[in-house]
Amino acid sequence: MKDWQSMRALVISDIHGNLHALEAVLKVAQGCSGSGFDEIWNLGDLVGYGAHPNEVIDTLRASPARRVLHVRGNHDRVCCGLSSSQGFNPVAALAALWTRQHLRPENREWLRALPMGPIEAGRGVLCVHGSPLHEDQYIASMRDAWIPLRRMPAEVAFFGHTHLQGAFSCRGESWSEDAPAYTEGSRDEVQQFTLAMLAGSRYLINPGGVGQPRDGDWRAAFAIYDQSERQVTFYRTPYDVAAAQGAIRAAGLPERLAARLTTGR
Ligand SMILES: [Fe+2]
Repeated sequence: MKDWQSMRALVISDIHGNLHALEAVLKVAQGCSGSGFDEIWNLGDLVGYGAHPNEVIDTLRASPARRVLHVRGNHDRVCCGLSSSQGFNPVAALAALWTRQHLRPENREWLRALPMGPIEAGRGVLCVHGSPLHEDQYIASMRDAWIPLRRMPAEVAFFGHTHLQGAFSCRGESWSEDAPAYTEGSRDEVQQFTLAMLAGSRYLINPGGVGQPRDGDWRAAFAIYDQSERQVTFYRTPYDVAAAQGAIRAAGLPERLAARLTTGR
């Protein structure tokens, strides 16, 4: 067994019941740089929107990874009945109701037991859904990131919720915003972008949305965090979008949820 220092974590978020995207991510991640991954860190929103909530949960619960960490997301909370859908737009609320009706009882109970972030994934590393300061806070810009970066009780936090892949960092009073620059190849291919993490800097890192990207790139997003190399590599992988869309339509879920997977918006 590898020691802690050589640990590689597959960091995923916002799967949203999209089994086809999750399966593509797991397959690509297993072959990443020949090293695969040791652990999975799931940042929440396993369910809601997509047509395969039970299958997504079953897949992660059956993972052979050494450790699988989960943080609950706002859709997980609503879909298992811990919160109401007040504040959701009508499409999200309809999808949450459908998901609640279709979750198997044991998976509903499993969702109810998911921990609220932040949780400590390692020394100085947190996993959260929205922000280290509040699980439902959106961090979509450096303006949003600045206070959490300064106040979080760790040097690194992985977060999701916005479905936007990238990183925010600060060092003293200076700051940086890093969105992956996928300059080579095409969107029909797997692409990657590595960010070296500087000692003494603080980072908020979003692996992007697995099952419903919103940054204009339809491919499933994820990241591999390499503790010993002190780097995070962002990935995008194609998946069978048509199959995911067909399942959404066959389930009677709103057309908008199928259509948006084509554009990644
Ligand atoms: Fe989400």
